Amino acid sequence: MHEGGLVGFRGLSLLLQHRALTERLDAIEGAIGACQTADLTDREMALRLLPLLRGFAQALPEHFAAEASSMVALLRESSDDEFARTLEQLDSEHPRLLAVFEGSVTQLAGYLGSAHAAPHASFEHAMTEILTAVAEFRDHEAREDALFLR
Ligand SMILES: [Fe+2]
Ligand SMILES: [Fe+2]
Repeated sequence: MHEGGLVGFRGLSLLLQHRALTERLDAIEGAIGACQTADLTDREMALRLLPLLRGFAQALPEHFAAEASSMVALLRESSDDEFARTLEQLDSEHPRLLAVFEGSVTQLAGYLGSAHAAPHASFEHAMTEILTAVAEFRDHEAREDALFLR
């Protein structure tokens, strides 16, 4: 960063994407909480959650691609080994995060009978898996935010 440069400017569009993704994660967690207290059937819960989760999963490939291209530029400019290692670690987490959320979409769709894959776990377990994935994603994004704003 040159003197007088705007701190975190390069990461700005990514940070805005993070805000949108975080809002959707809030909505997903809120829906799970509301469903659990509203005494809905599994199918009713799946109907409420699936669009929220599907929209989130569908946004991930574009978000990860934007981060990957930003990473290439950052690595080109930086000679900080620790920074490069952290960036590469974050990038390496993307395929698994995508697989986890896409898997949850497939599983929820199974509860609606609209997917080829039948549900293989209890619905409560599926909800726990989603909440774990949400927490993991939040942690991933927080580490990115810290890096982009250095
Ligand atoms: Fe990321
Ligand atoms: Fe991100």
